Amino acid sequence: MKKILTGLKPTGDLTLGNYIGSIKQMKELEGKYESFLFVADLHALTVPNDPALLHERIRKFIGMYLACGIDPTKHTIYIQSENNYIPAISWLLECSTYYGEASRMIQFKEKSKENANFTVGLLTYPILMSADILFCDADLVPVGIDQKQHVELARDVADRFNKKYGDTFNLPDVFIPEKGAKIYDLQDPTKKMSKTEENPKGVISLFDEPEVAKSKIMKATTDSLATIKYDPENQPGISNLLTIASSLTGKTIEEVVSDNALKGYGEFKSYVGDIVANFLKDIQTKYNDILNSDILNKVLDDGASKTNKLAKEKYELMREKMGVIR
Ligand code: TYM
Repeated sequence: MKKILTGLKPTGDLTLGNYIGSIKQMKELEGKYESFLFVADLHALTVPNDPALLHERIRKFIGMYLACGIDPTKHTIYIQSENNYIPAISWLLECSTYYGEASRMIQFKEKSKENANFTVGLLTYPILMSADILFCDADLVPVGIDQKQHVELARDVADRFNKKYGDTFNLPDVFIPEKGAKIYDLQDPTKKMSKTEENPKGVISLFDEPEVAKSKIMKATTDSLATIKYDPENQPGISNLLTIASSLTGKTIEEVVSDNALKGYGEFKSYVGDIVANFLKDIQTKYNDILNSDILNKVLDDGASKTNKLAKEKYELMREKMGVIR
């Protein structure tokens, strides 16, 4: 069975963008692949960190994966930092990655501009991601469009390693959802909906009160064209709402357009707002049940044990190939 793998970084509460671009993809591929889904807590250390908050979020992420319908019997679910071999594999891969290619990553270029005192971790971030992907020979990596370049780097690094040291890694492919590859900020629909965005009005957290989320949709930026049409270039706000409604209902964009064709923007927003509010109500109820049960520890213990075993084998193979053995 082929393998899929993805991770999400706990630098803020999970957003609707994370759900549509990532968690929902994993749910849809469930059963068709051997699946690995983790919390990328080591990646969260590349930006300023509040330890108490990070600790709390790690558990919230896992609880929310399950609440979103991820079936723990069909995915290996784990916390990145509980896999002892990932940082070690990452170091060996760093020594097969050029400084030039790491520093050309778009995310590095953008984030390093935001804070003059950025750490080396921000530069080596995609190499840690390569270790995440390569340790288990993932075939497919479902991500939103913003992470595509990082997955391609993992493939390049693996290919270079294989050519230099002999066959060691499977070459992974990126998997981008057909729709919802990028959910946009509600206030500024030209930029990505991001969990680290400072203005909460543009972002729907999976933990938002359903009514608060609906009011954010009601206040979303639209346009003055007064027509419900999927046209991301000229109507980015309306197109974003169409994508959200389509992703959460399972209807095609065309169906959502035709259901709403005769409505004004206010009425259309209320329709999308209700869909989002009902979705949140449902997952939050499940989330509370999950946190009150003892399922999380069992799932995480199983995940840590399975992934440590796989990563240890890969680490030892790499050491042998590279000559770093006794
Ligand atoms: P992160 O936490 O920024 O995002 C997690 C996943 O959600 C997707 N995503 C979005 N998709 C659509 N619209 C949006 N507005 C949106 N915002 C985020 C991201 O593309 C991603 O798929 N570096 C990764 C975590 C990671 C990882 C990995 C992923 C670490 N190691 C190995 C895959 C494989 C990250 O920061 O994701």
